[in-house]
Amino acid sequence: MTTSSTRSRRVVVIGTGDVGATTAYTLLLRQRMTELVLIDVNKELALGQALDMNHGLPFVGGVKVWAGDYEDCKDAAVIIIAAGAAQRPGETRIDLLNRNAGIFDQIIGNIVKYNDNGIILVATNPVDILSYVSYKKSGWPAHRVIGSGTLLDSARFRYLIGKHKNLDPRSIHAHIIGEHGDSELPVWSMANVAGAALDLPESDQEEIFDNTKNAAYAIINAKGSTYYAIALALDRIVTAILQNESSVLNVSTLLDNYHGISDVYLGLPCVVDSTGVREHLEIPMNDKELELLNASANKLKSEISKVNL
Ligand code: 2OP
Repeated sequence: MTTSSTRSRRVVVIGTGDVGATTAYTLLLRQRMTELVLIDVNKELALGQALDMNHGLPFVGGVKVWAGDYEDCKDAAVIIIAAGAAQRPGETRIDLLNRNAGIFDQIIGNIVKYNDNGIILVATNPVDILSYVSYKKSGWPAHRVIGSGTLLDSARFRYLIGKHKNLDPRSIHAHIIGEHGDSELPVWSMANVAGAALDLPESDQEEIFDNTKNAAYAIINAKGSTYYAIALALDRIVTAILQNESSVLNVSTLLDNYHGISDVYLGLPCVVDSTGVREHLEIPMNDKELELLNASANKLKSEISKVNL
């Protein structure tokens, strides 16, 4: 008899470039699943990545890893999409929309051919728009189509606040919401340590937020792409799903009258469990923050209107 502890848990990673491969490797090291499938349009690349990871199995064990095809999405609990072009120095995430929206047609079509009850987790940029595209094209309920959203931005924000205050970033409660990109916003009104307000001067707040928002540009200029922290963020989301955690994570999700905003994907604090996004937490915001959230939503809606859905 199969028990819940022995039942196979499959994760598929589509796109095995820097982000996909680092995510797969992170999931492997942390033994999050029993089966890990790597898919890439460049089959040689997926084969090479799978082979390289397989040679590590004597050191970690416990996971079957292979380069597969879309048929392997069949039994997947989570399908991560990290395929597509990445930003080049000087490009914004939105600049990638034309290049990446096209390939999503095929990817989503192939996933839904073989799977109808898994969870799609999008990491490709612009992640909020491509999550919306995935939701529309899959026809799946929105709770099973998730984007990595502002989880990474919130991590960067907490790291920078922690560094400023000489505190462990895990003890900092602070959220970046909205677009994973240039129109994102910090919810300073809610930021706290052990319930106490952070009480940072405005100039420090500005510097911390600027460094948060521009972190990816700095990394891309320095080494070409970002992948370690996004891999850990994706691992965090996958774990919340596979372990039915009900953790609050700032993932990208479909808004339905969230502070009056609907029909757009944005990063927000969501309860994530084995069903995907179980619920959105409507956090209190001041007028300025609400204005910025609306502006972020409007920017993304206007970009979505240019996509062939
Ligand atoms: C990041 O923020 C580029 O979206 C990617 O690291």
